[in-house]
Amino acid sequence: MGEKWVLMKTAQTPTNIAVIKYWGKRDETLILPVNDSISVTLDPAHLCTTTTVAVSPAFQQDRMWLNGKEISLSGGRYQNCLREIRKRAREVENKEKGIKIEKEDWEKLHLHIASYNNFPTAAGLASSAAGFACLVFALAKLMNVEEDESQLSAIARQGSGSACRSLFGGFVKWIMGKEEDGSDSLAVQLVDEKHWDDLFIIIAVVSSRQKETSSTSGMRESVETSLLLQHRAKEVVPKRTLQMEEAIKNRDFASFAKLTCADSNQFHAVCLDTSPPIFYMNDTSHRIISHVEKWNRSEGSPQVAYTFDAGPNAVLIARDRKAAAQLLKRLLFSFPPNSDADLDSYIIGDKTILKEAGVEGMKDVEALTPPPENGAAQKYPGDVNYFICTRPGKGPILLSNENLALLDPETGLPK
Ligand code: DP6
Repeated sequence: MGEKWVLMKTAQTPTNIAVIKYWGKRDETLILPVNDSISVTLDPAHLCTTTTVAVSPAFQQDRMWLNGKEISLSGGRYQNCLREIRKRAREVENKEKGIKIEKEDWEKLHLHIASYNNFPTAAGLASSAAGFACLVFALAKLMNVEEDESQLSAIARQGSGSACRSLFGGFVKWIMGKEEDGSDSLAVQLVDEKHWDDLFIIIAVVSSRQKETSSTSGMRESVETSLLLQHRAKEVVPKRTLQMEEAIKNRDFASFAKLTCADSNQFHAVCLDTSPPIFYMNDTSHRIISHVEKWNRSEGSPQVAYTFDAGPNAVLIARDRKAAAQLLKRLLFSFPPNSDADLDSYIIGDKTILKEAGVEGMKDVEALTPPPENGAAQKYPGDVNYFICTRPGKGPILLSNENLALLDPETGLPK
């Protein structure tokens, strides 16, 4: 076998947002949670990670580049994922290129990995979930691994817990499992992305100056100090998960919204119950909650569900496009862009909703009228950085177009 060849695969993997939150581990190394969780996968067209993985006898060591910058692979989480996937590698033959890799060769061969997020990492949107899922998925394809997505999810889980839910599209459940070795702690798809096609999602990327506590250390402190976390994991989540599965299966938006909002609020209550307390939401987050609660109440039935992860950004799930269009109008009224920003860069993603909201091409959102239920109708320009409009989306895919690879096919270095 020649020494100059490079073999590579490129994959694209979505990010996900939990509607029943994972918060707390029972095993820190294997990343085993204290409760089940459920998420919705977001459309990779708007939020995803692309990863190219390459193997070559010319590579001297495993190396990785994230958004163009080389990063260290020495951390335990990367090492665990690489070890677990190498264990499952099988023979690979590429007759066209005259390459044959035996099963045993994988232990000696080194890898190059390049990863890129199509959304700003600084936005505080879960990039590690899509990142580890994409790494494991791409390596599994490169190494001809036999395991299915659920089994791969148990490997991605060891990179970052929430990553295991990014191996599927639609609605996904991470089953906490019982085994000590974590073999039954994996993700399964509840329904695919077509099952509940009406839903529309608007993410408010909220301005924040504060450096947030990472999820990893935040949940460790909650496990050590919060009694509410124990109660939540034991008494609340098991019942809530069943109810959520029912709501998703029946496309019952009223129940879905009630459960989603309650679970987000309980997660943040656990953070407050942690010693010292952790504050992820800020005044803008709280204002968005009040807006949604008021509007839902005035409509008589929920139009929008809100959920917040370990940061101030709001993820708003609307029952359909009509509700999403109205929501966007309301949000633009209360949270207009700073005077120098134009609407085109203030609302990104699926912009088709702009037309339905009647704000397409609008130069000045000042002209919007206040929502009737919002008496005070105060405005907070600049408190939201921008909005991302998206929908539930599909799971990981392999990109066959070599032009989309992030590594050079000759050198195996970033393009
Ligand atoms: C609030 O998966 O980022 O987003 O497993 O330590 O990497 P580690 O944590 P991570 O935690 C996510 C927490 C959350 C809720 C959720 O996604 O379920």
